[in-house]
Amino acid sequence: MPEPLTRILVVDDEENMVHFLTRLLRAEGFEVEGVRTGDAALDRLRAGPFELVLTDLKLPDTDGIEILKAARELHPETVVVLITAYGTIDSAIEAMRAGAYDYVTKPFRASEILQVVDKALERVRLRREVLQLRQAVEQRFGLAGLVGKSGRMQEVYTQIERFAASRGAVLIQGESGTGKELVAKALHFNSPRKAGPFVVIDCGAIPEALQESELFGHERGAFTGAVATKKGLFEEAHGGTLFLDEVAELAPGLQAKLLRALQDGEIRRVGGTKTLRVEARVIAATNRDLAAEVREGAFREDLFFRLNVLPIVLPPLRERPEDVPLLVDHFLERIARDNGRPPKRLSPEALRAIMAYPWPGNVRELEHALERAALQAEGETIAPRDLPPEVLAPGEELTVTLPGAAEGFKETMARVIRDAEVRLIRRALAQSGGNRTEAARILGISRRALLYKLNEYNLRRP
Ligand SMILES: Nc1ncnc2c1ncn2[C@@H]1O[C@H](COP(=O)(O)OP(=O)(O)OP(=O)(O)O)[C@@H](O)[C@H]1O
Ligand SMILES: [Mg+2]
Repeated sequence: MPEPLTRILVVDDEENMVHFLTRLLRAEGFEVEGVRTGDAALDRLRAGPFELVLTDLKLPDTDGIEILKAARELHPETVVVLITAYGTIDSAIEAMRAGAYDYVTKPFRASEILQVVDKALERVRLRREVLQLRQAVEQRFGLAGLVGKSGRMQEVYTQIERFAASRGAVLIQGESGTGKELVAKALHFNSPRKAGPFVVIDCGAIPEALQESELFGHERGAFTGAVATKKGLFEEAHGGTLFLDEVAELAPGLQAKLLRALQDGEIRRVGGTKTLRVEARVIAATNRDLAAEVREGAFREDLFFRLNVLPIVLPPLRERPEDVPLLVDHFLERIARDNGRPPKRLSPEALRAIMAYPWPGNVRELEHALERAALQAEGETIAPRDLPPEVLAPGEELTVTLPGAAEGFKETMARVIRDAEVRLIRRALAQSGGNRTEAARILGISRRALLYKLNEYNLRRP
């Protein structure tokens, strides 16, 4: 049964043909318009979309290929079928290349054309379904680009929806690469303050000495180098959201000042005397166990309670394997879009390896691995050999050999430690996508220490 709103445009310079086709298709219940020139066809196409365009290849003022191109440009979902005269098979092939769905050769029987139309419209329906499905998925599972349909992620979406409207502070906890920043953005952009600023402070990246002035700003002359008055990020976030990333890295002195600012809704610039009212929603994130940091005395308990009004915990990727294939598709499509080519696919073996690997760096590690794999894969298919080595050999054991005549205990230990260090560093670099600052952070060592080791172990060129 044709759907009620299926519109078909018939283009042919022979009046009889237009007449025959419009009658035939109207009898099938389609809404049909018939025109006899390319110009008229373009007019109709500009006026509104058709599901199907049935056009003669040879027209007085133009040809069917031009109509095809125009139709696809104006309405990419439109399916085009070409009518060719007997003996013009070359142009038919050209037409298929240009994106026609099918062609029929004149003369044809009514049943023949109906069959082609049926097939073409089936294609239209399929495309529409895919589109609707994608929109539904995006609405439900795609909050600000968040992908994942697992129960754990659905809980997160529900929390985002509930918390977005509130002004209460949110604390997002989760391992590195689980999407904390994406969730913070989803909260902001689904909130009534979405038109306001979204300001990120990466507390781990600002040296302790500069944290206060970054956060609260400074007056001119407040310290050497403060040549002009500068607004702090807190102030910049006024009317919007302040995202305190890596909040566990905040120096103790700053923790106290932040607490005061949150309690009073007021800040004071470094070297300033007057207080400024600031109204910003605060979202904090950390990949540490903040409650444990509190127990160990590394983080203020009162600030923890102040930040942890609305908690969101992001599950690590290994605890939601059903999201992995979705994320893979999502990233392969994004990578393809960035490169302007069709998406590559994973071979079944590559997918198996990806499913078996625990992804300690979570979604970010998966994203980087796919980026490199897509680059490395020669054809359209990503094979296991295109994946990072650690994905192929998870849980790889250190080779420990007993000290022998050639090597004493000390030398053996040095070798084993060196081996372990090299592997840890390689893994951290893989996880950070080659970013050394990030790799150092993952390893819990300073960037300088990492650079030193890279030199020592000759790892500068991966
Ligand atoms: N559910 C998801 N759907 C789609 N992309 C995701 C998802 N989770 C994370 N990502 C992507 O993974 C990368 C890392 O995410 P994000 O920066 O939000 O992680 P994070 O938890 O803040 O990590 P870190 O603690 O290391 O800062 C980003 O490129 C992000 O777009
Ligand atoms: Mg982050």
